[in-house]
Amino acid sequence: AARARGALERLIRDVPDFPEPGVLFKDITPVLADCEAFHDVVEAMAEAGRDADGVTVVDRVLGMEARGFLLGAPIALALGVGFVPIRKAGKLPAETYGVTYDLEYGTATLEMHTDALRPGDRVLLVDDVLATGGTIAATTELVHRAGAEVHAVSVLMELAFLEGRAAAGDAPLSTLLTV
Ligand code: PRP
Ligand code: MG
Repeated sequence: AARARGALERLIRDVPDFPEPGVLFKDITPVLADCEAFHDVVEAMAEAGRDADGVTVVDRVLGMEARGFLLGAPIALALGVGFVPIRKAGKLPAETYGVTYDLEYGTATLEMHTDALRPGDRVLLVDDVLATGGTIAATTELVHRAGAEVHAVSVLMELAFLEGRAAAGDAPLSTLLTV
C-alpha cells in the first residue's frame, strides 16, 4: 500500500475550478495511464476483500458508474470474483432496484439488476472518491434490497472535510489517500 500511496501522491493531478469555480478537482486519469501505478493501486484496494491470510472473502465487487467501474472491474479480477455495475438511472436493461438520494442541487438515482446478487452474498463496494457519502449510502441500500451485505468499502480517496465516512455504516472503510 505504501507504493500505491506514493504513486497517488505523485500522479493525481489537481485541476482548479472544475467542474465549477472554487472546486479543486482530483484527476486520477494520470494514475490509470501508468500501468505500474494502476496495478499497485488495484492490488492495495483489493486487500479490503481478503482476510489476514490473503484469502478472498467477498462474493462480488460492486463499482459505481462511472469512475467506480475503472477501479472495481480490475479489483474483481484481482480477487477472482465477479463484478456488478451500479448504474445511473435508465441504463440497465433488465429488472432493477433503484435508490434515489439527495445531491447538493436535486437528486440522483442509482440502480442495480435485481438478480445481480443472491441473498447472503458478501460484497466489496469500490469507488474512486468518498465525498458526502451519498453514493456509498445509496449503493449500500441497493445491496440490502437484494438481501446481501456489505463486507467492506474500498475507496481510493476520501475528502475528509465533507464527513461522508458515516455512509459506510458498520462496514469497514479503507482508503489509500485522505485529503
Ligand atoms: C463522484 C465520484 C463518486 C461520488 C462521490 O461521482 O466518482 O462516485 O462523486 O460523491 P459522494 O460521496 O458525495 O456521493 P460522479 O457521479 O460525480 O461522477 P462519475 O460518473 O465520473 O463517477
Ligand atoms: Mg462516481
